[in-house]
Amino acid sequence: MKTLNLGLSLLLTGTMLVGCKEEKKEETAMPEQTEAVKKGGITKSEFGTTPEGVKIEQYTLENAKGMKMEVITYGGIITSLTAPNKDGKYEDIVLGYKNKEDYFNGNPYFFGAVIGRYGNRIAKGKFSLDGKDYQLTVNDGPNSLHGGKGFDKRVWTAEEVAGAASPTLRLSYTAKDGEEGYPGNLITVVTYVLTDDNALEITYEAETDKKTVVNLTQHSYFNLSGDFSKLITDHELEIKADKFLPVDATLIPTGELKAVKGTPFDFTASKEIGKDINAADDQIKKGGGFDHCWVFTDSSNKLKQVAGVYHKASGRYMEVYTDQPAVQFYSGNFIDGTKDSKTGGKYEKRSGLCLETQHYPDAPNQPKFPSTVLSPGEKYTTKTTYKFSVK
Ligand code: BGC
Repeated sequence: MKTLNLGLSLLLTGTMLVGCKEEKKEETAMPEQTEAVKKGGITKSEFGTTPEGVKIEQYTLENAKGMKMEVITYGGIITSLTAPNKDGKYEDIVLGYKNKEDYFNGNPYFFGAVIGRYGNRIAKGKFSLDGKDYQLTVNDGPNSLHGGKGFDKRVWTAEEVAGAASPTLRLSYTAKDGEEGYPGNLITVVTYVLTDDNALEITYEAETDKKTVVNLTQHSYFNLSGDFSKLITDHELEIKADKFLPVDATLIPTGELKAVKGTPFDFTASKEIGKDINAADDQIKKGGGFDHCWVFTDSSNKLKQVAGVYHKASGRYMEVYTDQPAVQFYSGNFIDGTKDSKTGGKYEKRSGLCLETQHYPDAPNQPKFPSTVLSPGEKYTTKTTYKFSVK
């Protein structure tokens, strides 16, 4: 793991306590305000109240160009993000529920959320560390997906970073030792920055007091058309990855790293997502489309461009940069037409696409995969940037 100075001893005393009394703190610390307060590039307002009675705040970040992002303290969810089309028109390009309650009713699609403690699947929700067996919450067939009742369903503490060059929001959450079956209190900080060159920079940081496994990511669904009644099958995608991880019937990697060449999984040259999405291919069938982990050709942990998405009609182009070794490209195959869209109608299968930068799924059980173990004294820090422009 790379290191970065998080100033954790301070955080440990502060946030650990907050973590233990999370719900109470949220109730008492909420400012008594209904009016939005403008503060630099960040506006804060009330979003709503969870069924448990916890008040949720909303932060609106706006850069100098007028690009806007709304984030809520529930799950660190990005509920909207605007980007310009080729005519300079800013439109929302991430899926989110029309009805606020859908965020609190389990957010079945993980729309816009921070994912942890372990993004993606762990087979049968089991793993061992130093000879000790751990049983996680099983929530996806026989497996554990996205941390069980994960970070996407927790209330985060948000704080604007004062004096930053661009609007910067710092979210923190401390997962307790044993929460969802994982060992160690895990202090987690996720920072969103909206830069003036229309990039969303996300930094993930974590520290633990017991050996654990960590794989943090972001679950925004992009639809660059700005019209959520349209599908993402006409978007062109490039992934700088020469291999992907084939999966079994429950979407757990088999352990093989398979060359993409000659398969529907070859996005080394930009290709329309719809082109091979229904190919007669066993892996496509298993995922119901694309729902796999691509392993980058450049395996260095430097921040580098790993993917690009282009929507010709709007001209919008999104570049993805990360220091992570892989990305889960999920083509929204399980979206089932039951939730109202922000732009009218319902979200349908393939209304949005996710590019979840991360370590490999099930790495805790697959010793040949790069390690996701975090030990006390180590600092987990990773960065991913989604940058928007037009072509
Ligand atoms: C997974 C999908 C899963 C989805 C849930 C994605 O990260 O790859 O298999 O259904 O999350 O929204």
